[in-house]
Amino acid sequence: MRIQKAGAITDQILLLGSRHGSMYLIMGDKYALLGGGVAWEVPRLEAQLDRFQIDRNRIQYLVISHAHHDHCGAVPYLIARYPHIQKIASPYCTHILNKSQPVHLMREVNRKILESLNRPHFHDGISLDFRPLPIERQVADGDRIELGGGLTLRFYLTPGHSRCSLTAYVPELKALFPADALPFPETGKRELTVTANHDYDEYIRSLEKIEPLSIRLVGYEHDGVLTGEEAAAIIPKSLAATHDQRHRIRKRYEELQDIDLLVEEVAEKYRSLELFQPVPFDIMRAITKRMVKSALGLIDPSKVNRSPKT
Ligand SMILES: [Fe+2]
Ligand SMILES: [Fe+2]
Repeated sequence: MRIQKAGAITDQILLLGSRHGSMYLIMGDKYALLGGGVAWEVPRLEAQLDRFQIDRNRIQYLVISHAHHDHCGAVPYLIARYPHIQKIASPYCTHILNKSQPVHLMREVNRKILESLNRPHFHDGISLDFRPLPIERQVADGDRIELGGGLTLRFYLTPGHSRCSLTAYVPELKALFPADALPFPETGKRELTVTANHDYDEYIRSLEKIEPLSIRLVGYEHDGVLTGEEAAAIIPKSLAATHDQRHRIRKRYEELQDIDLLVEEVAEKYRSLELFQPVPFDIMRAITKRMVKSALGLIDPSKVNRSPKT
């Protein structure tokens, strides 16, 4: 079952934000906010925190899943407004969030989207502009944070979608928060949408790393929550979909013998999916090119992908 409307998922998990940028409040004695959101949803997020009567002082942690503009866009505002919140990210994400070129790129993308949506660039007198983000705590595989109230946050480095992807897991609730590190079940589509944007091999290794976890809830940062049997079966299904897609790309390349044509075909397919509708086609093409080259083994996986992603 999918849950996309903001509200209580369980007594201890609150879904916030919107379908485009879902965030989660994990409520032990201390609270952790998972997902850095998008700049243009800051007013909505504040209104939701008011509506659900959330005591902001209890929010002690903010977990940034990866350094893509649609997963850390609300963080500059949140840092300024709530300086007591400790920011958590992977080591590589920390590096990217303080590097001038990606920060500049994310600032430009954010500004363009705010302008295209005709939204203000400030909320309550605080700029929504993207800027370097100080990260107080870098986490590695297996690191954990006790939230009290019987809840623990456990972390896994899950590169592949991006080099810096971080997945959070709450074992007591069997709840997984992979952001974009796991294929998406698109509404109305039978196939999962594979998100191996950066590197297929890493993406598969990351899925295999989290495969042993017992899962009954997946909180994506796009399109909300997956529960029940679909959630329980998501990792094996994701691995099969990823292997299948890579096989299809390789087979199609043998037929076409032309990367640009293949990229065009695959990019068109992604563009038809609802999640990617807002992404300009030149960006979609750049993302797809990296993915196709990775599927064909034509890329150096150590290279950093600087394209803006969904
Ligand atoms: Fe995304
Ligand atoms: Fe992403």
